[in-house]
Amino acid sequence: MATYSSNWIDELKNSVNIVQVIEQYLPLTKKGNRYSALCPFHTEKTPSFTVDEEHQYYKCFGCGKAGDVIEFVKEKEKLEFLDAVEFIANKFKIKMPEKQESAEITARKRDLENIYDANLIAARFYRDNLQKPAAKTALEYMYNRGFSDEVIAAFGVGCSLDYESLYNHLISKGIKEEVILKAALVNENKKGDFQAKRLVIPIIDAKDKVIGFSGRSLTSDMKPKYKNSRETLAFIKNQTLYNMNTIRHLRKEEDVKYLILVEGYMDVMALYEVGIKNVIASMGTSLTQNQCVAISKVVKQVYVCFDGDVAGQDATLRSLDLLSSEDVDVRVISIPDDMDPDDYVKNYGASSFEQLLIKAEPVTQFKIRKLKDSLDFSTIEGKPKFVKETIPILVKLDSITQSTYIDYVSQLSGVSKDIIINAISESKDNNLVKINKDIFIANRKKSVSDFDVDRGRLVIAAWLFAQFDLSIDEFISADMFKIEEQKIIAGRFLEEYRNNNRVIFKEIWPNEIEADEIRNELNKIYDKKDDWQNAYGIDTYKDAIRSLMLDYLQNLSDLLVRKIIETDNDEERNLYKEKLTKVLEYKTSRGL
Ligand code: CTP
Ligand code: MN
Repeated sequence: MATYSSNWIDELKNSVNIVQVIEQYLPLTKKGNRYSALCPFHTEKTPSFTVDEEHQYYKCFGCGKAGDVIEFVKEKEKLEFLDAVEFIANKFKIKMPEKQESAEITARKRDLENIYDANLIAARFYRDNLQKPAAKTALEYMYNRGFSDEVIAAFGVGCSLDYESLYNHLISKGIKEEVILKAALVNENKKGDFQAKRLVIPIIDAKDKVIGFSGRSLTSDMKPKYKNSRETLAFIKNQTLYNMNTIRHLRKEEDVKYLILVEGYMDVMALYEVGIKNVIASMGTSLTQNQCVAISKVVKQVYVCFDGDVAGQDATLRSLDLLSSEDVDVRVISIPDDMDPDDYVKNYGASSFEQLLIKAEPVTQFKIRKLKDSLDFSTIEGKPKFVKETIPILVKLDSITQSTYIDYVSQLSGVSKDIIINAISESKDNNLVKINKDIFIANRKKSVSDFDVDRGRLVIAAWLFAQFDLSIDEFISADMFKIEEQKIIAGRFLEEYRNNNRVIFKEIWPNEIEADEIRNELNKIYDKKDDWQNAYGIDTYKDAIRSLMLDYLQNLSDLLVRKIIETDNDEERNLYKEKLTKVLEYKTSRGL
């Protein structure tokens, strides 16, 4: 996250007048030394919203909302704090402070802005194409699918007519070839339009930037059916959700209580066409943690609507868990007859679709039902297999919910509740044996170099913020880290990660964090976030981890050797030998 000094933020607040800002959104009436208005945050007939110019503060005596100018813009524009700060600075032409950043980061930011510019020009170009006579097939395709001109315009749908024009158009608009390539708009050698001859749907992020495109083929022989832009600095698929821009604008108008998650871009548009606007789509893959976090910032309830063929797949089910673990209540909508939302609303209309929302199932219920449907209960083995496969689902539930589902599974299978309860507790004990922590005291006494401390921070920051596969294997241990604070933080991370295969930052870094030393260390780790997102790559990570591992594994094998010599218990000795072999094998395989 970019951060600004609190001095600068104070300066910003001093140089804008809250009255002027709020007046752009609603009429204010002066009353004595205050201004008053109908509250923009709740419905009321008599004004209880006041703005205090002297203290640069607003408060509504009806709903209690209150704050400074930044808070107001955050609420009205549905922006996060720093985005609201930038929004105000841009609006009032206040120069942002020069941030301390490396030349590399500055260059990346410039590239990013250039890509946005090129993408916007391309999006307008595609959009305008659709109105040309040569685009008849594409436009009729949209009409035949039941889309109106309004919806086509709202989503900026366009088309590409040939290979050459896009490149020529961008060049004529002053976009440099280098930027066109960085935006992945054309292919490298012949500069042909990447979306040539396709219907083109722009992918727009929550801040209204065109970040990429998806092209749909217009004939069944043109494959693939959808072709998404390659990833660029601006287009990072695992962070993108289609239609979040609409959602942000919708939230400015009304309280959006839930989102509907569908699979296709066309599904989003088809639901919009019938007036259901709170819909987003993943990018043709199952949800990532980044996407789940983004969703949870907007709503606490999501209806997931998968096509019949994917609903039972492991990756899909896992993504539902990911979303649930971000405190989102997830319900699964099942559409009959293998239809997708687009087919369904076209056949049965919006109100039938809304009926499906009412019938949506909680994730656990959905999983258990799917499991049951996939097994043959008419054979002797069907039912026990069913119960066994429900155990990993049941283990994860809180005890109250669990007991309800134990009843449910018992009813469905005829297996007694006691047996199910037993199976649950057995599976809990079955955790992997971890390398014993106490064998690692030796390392503590050594003096620790600044390099190692920094490497530790780098690695933990990568775990939290980097965008690549972490490849955390069983040898990665909290004891690799050289200072106590890092061991504690890493320990917490690894526990979370190994139990749930994911990490929720706020869980390992709760607000009411305990000791100052840990808080300090976490702040220093957090300082590296920007670098991980903008500058460092996987090699930085590998190097840092390698250095930490080198010492750690050396110490570990020394210790195991000593234990092997010291112990007089054969069984123990064999155990140590086994561990030593594994450590040495690992060292060799990693070239350490
Ligand atoms: N998708 C993709 N690449 C493909 C096919 C699909 O990325 N080759 C993604 C797209 O995001 C698409 C979604 O998966 O929107 C759903 O694809 P699919 O179910 O095949 O298509 P529909 O959404 O039903 O599209 P249409 O109605 O246009 O056939
Ligand atoms: Mn479809």
